[in-house]
Amino acid sequence: MTHVLITGADGFIGRALTRRLAAAGVALHGRTVQRLTLCDLRLSEAPSAPHVTHVAGSVADPEVVRRATADQPDIVFHLASVPSGQSEADFEQGLSVNVQGLIGLLDTLRRQGHRPTVVFTSSIAVFGAPLPEHIDDDTPLRPTLSYGAHKQMAEIFIADLTRRGALSGRSVRLPGIVARPPSPTGALSAFSSELIRALAAGQPYTCPVSADATLWLLSLQGCVDNLLHAAAPQLALPPGLTAWTLPAQRLRVGQLVQAFEQRRPGCSQQLTFAPDATLEAQFGRLPPLDTTAAQAAGFCHDGDVGTLVERAVQAIAT
Ligand SMILES: NC(=O)c1ccc[n+]([C@@H]2O[C@H](COP(=O)([O-])OP(=O)(O)OC[C@H]3O[C@@H](n4cnc5c(N)ncnc54)[C@H](O)[C@@H]3O)[C@@H](O)[C@H]2O)c1
Repeated sequence: MTHVLITGADGFIGRALTRRLAAAGVALHGRTVQRLTLCDLRLSEAPSAPHVTHVAGSVADPEVVRRATADQPDIVFHLASVPSGQSEADFEQGLSVNVQGLIGLLDTLRRQGHRPTVVFTSSIAVFGAPLPEHIDDDTPLRPTLSYGAHKQMAEIFIADLTRRGALSGRSVRLPGIVARPPSPTGALSAFSSELIRALAAGQPYTCPVSADATLWLLSLQGCVDNLLHAAAPQLALPPGLTAWTLPAQRLRVGQLVQAFEQRRPGCSQQLTFAPDATLEAQFGRLPPLDTTAAQAAGFCHDGDVGTLVERAVQAIAT
């Protein structure tokens, strides 16, 4: 039996993770999910079931954290976050949720002495921009957005609490997860999902990065698979290592368009390009990616561009 807490449960990834864990009797790493606690600002579409508890409110509010952790979860997926654009525009909100909220939550778990497993969704934004010519497990973290700085601070705090034995932390740096349904997200990298949605529907779209722009992509399904894997008790954790850059497919925008054309000829007829130099520099110049440590720990990407495209299209409908 296990008790799982998901914060950010009403978000794009949180909903997909919730769907995988909410069915009665579902097992996670051999243990039945006996209780599932969902926390977000709002939980408008969260599943209702006797074993599912809803905690609506901010993770930056100690009372909300107290309620969300009251029954001492065994596994915590901490996804609640203020996205990149919003964290740049509103410094105090980003700091309060992404840093102070995270510290409050994890310190509450530390005080409980229950030593849960904590899976944290970090981001490739920790690397900053411009990126070096190659990224691997030794690449220094030099975030150039407040959001990326928050993620790095969180990784450090989680590593320290893990070192102290207060919890078992696993930070996974997510690449672009595709394809989110349309919604104002505040994420500066949302164009990759907009492009995929337009190609899937054969609709007009002006792409804000060039056809030569390179992206690191992982499907929503692949992302959830990796988050669940990150919670495995038997995950190989070399001493001192608590953060992994997840494997992703590195694709040129042109390659992605070609894969959609193979699936549905003519779908890119209404696609035009108007590259924004700042956006392209920050999100469209992603170099070759070496994720040896993550692969050794059993994390993986979607395999090939065709599978990524099919899964990305499926995610739009969710
Ligand atoms: N989607 C991606 O491509 C991507 C890439 C890198 C990292 N990530 C990270 O993965 C996680 C999930 O991403 P997502 O795409 O589902 O984002 P999302 O914005 O769709 O979901 C985040 C959720 O957090 C909730 N939230 C915000 N402030 C909160 C607060 N104060 N208290 C409680 N909940 C709060 C929001 O209401 C939202 O439902 C985030 O931590 C994000 O930084 C996502």
